Amino acid sequence: MLKLNLGCGSHTPSGWVNVDYALGAWIAKLPVFSLINKIFKIINIDWSDEIFMHDLRKKFPWEDNSVDVVYSSHTLEHLSRTEGQHFLRECYRVLKPNGVIRIVVPDLNAIINKYTQGAIAADEVLEQLYVSYESPKDGVLKQKLAPFIRFPHKCMYDTPTLLQIVSDIGFEVASKQGFESEIEDVRAIEQLSRTIEAVIVEGKKTPANTYKLKEFTQSNSLVS
Ligand SMILES: C[S@@+](CC[C@H](N)C(=O)[O-])C[C@H]1O[C@@H](n2cnc3c(N)ncnc32)[C@H](O)[C@@H]1O
Repeated sequence: MLKLNLGCGSHTPSGWVNVDYALGAWIAKLPVFSLINKIFKIINIDWSDEIFMHDLRKKFPWEDNSVDVVYSSHTLEHLSRTEGQHFLRECYRVLKPNGVIRIVVPDLNAIINKYTQGAIAADEVLEQLYVSYESPKDGVLKQKLAPFIRFPHKCMYDTPTLLQIVSDIGFEVASKQGFESEIEDVRAIEQLSRTIEAVIVEGKKTPANTYKLKEFTQSNSLVS
């Protein structure tokens, strides 16, 4: 069974292909740099040296209809709107018919509600949205490395919007609660903290939808 954990960060459960592209994950594969990082503490996270390196904005290296499950937590929002749509189309392409996709992202609605209800001040909103490379705690070296070690949010979602986008790709979709899933070992991959104030959408590549997409692609290629 082929299961992808796209944008895994430091969460790399076994039985999953854990995919990321962060500098820390590259460094973890190079013992000398790994040692330098330990001394200078440039990157805080302990990266696994077994992460499958791939930039998720690019074409996926997996065959059409070859993947059983795609899981992606708190990663889609790090891609721009267009990059995100490309990412979801690639997920669709590589999933087998009846394959399942589960996307978890921070809920824009929760952040806006906190602001309108006075729980967060105006000058905290951008921090909550996580749209900047800057952090007041950073030293000079980290400030210089920020574009390589930080992944600010480039797009935000709420439940209706994400349901619509994932459905438009061709998936049969539903909004889910944390750990409520068709994925058998969801408890191995999902982290409780990531399900709080989050949008959770699960989709299935149904054979009917696969057929529809094929028709759409064929009629489109006739036009171009
Ligand atoms: C906020 S972390 C989420 C980590 C983990 N999935 C979780 O929920 O705790 C986002 C991850 O997406 C990765 N990421 C962002 N853009 C990426 C890209 N273009 N290609 C691959 N990984 C990317 C980052 O390196 C980071 O590890």
